[in-house]
Amino acid sequence: MLEIKGISASYGATEVLHEVSLKIEKNKITTLIGGNGAGKSTTLNCIMGIVKATKGSIILDGKDITKLRTPEIVKLGISLIPEGRHIFPNMTVMENLEMGAYSRKDSKAELKNDIDSILDFFPILKTRYKQLAGTMSGGEQQMLAIGRSLMGNPQVILMDEPSMGLAPIVVEEVFNIIDKIQGMGKTILLVEQNATLALNYADYGYVIELGNIALEGTGKELLSNPEVEKAYLGL
Ligand SMILES: Nc1ncnc2c1ncn2[C@@H]1O[C@H](COP(=O)(O)OP(=O)(O)OP(=O)(O)O)[C@@H](O)[C@H]1O
Ligand SMILES: [Mg+2]
Repeated sequence: MLEIKGISASYGATEVLHEVSLKIEKNKITTLIGGNGAGKSTTLNCIMGIVKATKGSIILDGKDITKLRTPEIVKLGISLIPEGRHIFPNMTVMENLEMGAYSRKDSKAELKNDIDSILDFFPILKTRYKQLAGTMSGGEQQMLAIGRSLMGNPQVILMDEPSMGLAPIVVEEVFNIIDKIQGMGKTILLVEQNATLALNYADYGYVIELGNIALEGTGKELLSNPEVEKAYLGL
């Protein structure tokens, strides 16, 4: 579905990704785990065309999207839920959801229909649809960020540390939602520092260290890999 082939990326003169390759299979959860500064967000930003790859290619359903601009990549069906969520704090929940559909050409009735199904999917958003997004809790904002992404009707969703800053019980809720979204037929690339959780939910995983893919395997394989246990699972 989405293939990253040997991409490198730099900020100024410093190269931070060194020929990273990932395969993101259709309707699967693929996770990319690694420590602070390993290059996880940069990888997602390269896929979105926010950071330009200096080497390698990014292929979506056989089409080379490496050189496309971000709005074109969004139109092709890839959506990023960025680190820190970046919802619009001064807009209501409803307005945030409407913003998620900006790249779609569907009729008002269709969009209304989709908003209704998202509000059914996230009961917490339904009760608060008039509330200013910035006044909601971290967990609610994460749900909103996911809902807003779904409003764009993407095929592939890139999630950057959805569990960040959330209490364990809320993290669990967020991951249950991610599981349901996979059930809707979406393809997910999940970036996480919470390796245990991510590997438990993921079909396949990659470990990135200092801009290089160090290990890969099924979620189960990586969970029982002694190197992963030592470095990321805190055992
Ligand atoms: N805009 C930027 N300008 C310069 N250097 C950057 C920029 N963004 C990231 N970097 C550097 O690139 C490297 C990779 O950063 P990146 O944000 O991709 O890591 P990450 O794996 O997402 O880390 P974290 O888990 O802390 O979010 C780091 O060394 C970081 O300092
Ligand atoms: Mg990051």
